[in-house]
Amino acid sequence: MKFKALTVAALTVAMPVMALAGPDDDKLVINGEIEIVTKAAAPAHMEETGIDTVMSGWHFRADETQALEMDDFDNPGMIFVDQAIDAWNMAEGSEGKSCASCHDDPSSMAGVRAVYPKWNEAAGEVRTLAMQVNDCRVNKMGADKWKYAGGDMASMEALISVQSRGMPVNVATDGPVKAVWEQGKELYYTRTGQLDLSCASCHEQNYGNMIRADHLSQGQINGFPTYRLKNAKLNTVHARFKGCIRDTRAETYSPGSAEFVALELYVASRGNGLSVEGPSVRN
Ligand code: HEC
Ligand code: HEC
Repeated sequence: MKFKALTVAALTVAMPVMALAGPDDDKLVINGEIEIVTKAAAPAHMEETGIDTVMSGWHFRADETQALEMDDFDNPGMIFVDQAIDAWNMAEGSEGKSCASCHDDPSSMAGVRAVYPKWNEAAGEVRTLAMQVNDCRVNKMGADKWKYAGGDMASMEALISVQSRGMPVNVATDGPVKAVWEQGKELYYTRTGQLDLSCASCHEQNYGNMIRADHLSQGQINGFPTYRLKNAKLNTVHARFKGCIRDTRAETYSPGSAEFVALELYVASRGNGLSVEGPSVRN
C-alpha cells in the first residue's frame, strides 16, 4: 500500500489526518464456507480516479471487528435477519398476503441484492431495494410503507442481502440508468459544508489514512446494511450517507430522496466486482 499525499488542503487544516496503516491483507470467509471477494480490480469507469483496486471497508477495521463478521453466530446483524424472516412470513395489509405468498422462500431473492439499484421498466425509474420492498408492500399487499431507513426496512434488506453473499456486485452504469448514474457521480465529487469536502476528499484521496480515531475506507456499500458497534443496530446506506455529509457540517438530503438514490447507484457501481457482504459489521 502506498500512501497518498494529503492533497486536500481543507482536510489537513480542518481535521487531524495522519498517515497510518493501510488496508490489511486478511481474507474474509464467512462460516468457513462463503468466500467474500473483498479486493477486486477497479471497474473500468474508475480509471480516471487512479484507484486500481476496490476494497471492502472490512479491510480497514480492527481484527476484533473483522472477526465478528466471520461467523454468523458472532455477527450481531444476524439477529435482525431472523426478525426479518418473521416479517417475511407475516400477512399484512388489505390483500392478506405476506412476502412468502408471492416469493416463497427468501432464497428466491438470491442474486437480487447484487444488481440494485436497478432500472424498473414499468415504473420508468431507478429503484433501490428499499423502494422495491415498499412498492410490494403498498401495491401488492395493501400494507403501509416501512420507514425508508428504519429498522424493519434495514432488517429486510439484510435478509435479502444474505441470499446473495459472495456474489459479485454488478449494477448497471449506462443504458436507462445513465442519467441517474451521472447525477450520482456529480454528487460524489461535490464539496459540501463548512469543511468543503466531497465524498472523494475522504474516500478516494485519503482512504487508508486516519481521520480522528477512524481508519478511512473507500466508503464502499457492498457490505450494507451494516451493523455498527457505535449504535448497536443495522444501518442503511442512506443513513450512512446522511451521517457522512453531516460530518462535513453541511445540510443533507433525506433517506429515500432522488439525490441519495442517484448517489447510491454511483457508489454501488464503484464496488462492482466486490462480493455482496451484508450484513457487515463496522465500528
Ligand atoms: C402479491 C404478490 C407480491 C407480494 C405479496 C410481494 N411481492 Fe415482491 N414482487 C412481486 C412481483 C410481481 C415482483 C416483480 C415485478 C415488479 O417489479 O413489480 C416483485 C418484486 C420484488 C423484488 C425485486 C426482485 C428483483 O428481482 O428485482 C423484491 C426485492 C421484492 N419483490 C420483495 C418483496 C418483499 C420483501 C415483500 C414483502 C414485504 C414482497 N416483495 C411482497 C410480487 C409480490
Ligand atoms: C470527512 C471525511 C468524510 C467524508 C467527506 C465522507 N465520509 Fe464517508 N466515512 C467517513 C469515515 C471516517 C467513515 C468510517 C470509516 C470508514 O469506513 O471509512 C465513513 C464511512 C463511510 C461508509 C461506510 C463504509 C463501510 O464499509 O461500512 C460509506 C458507505 C461512506 N462513508 C460513504 C460516503 C459518501 C457517499 C460520502 C459523500 C456523500 C462520504 N462518505 C463522505 C468519512 C467521510
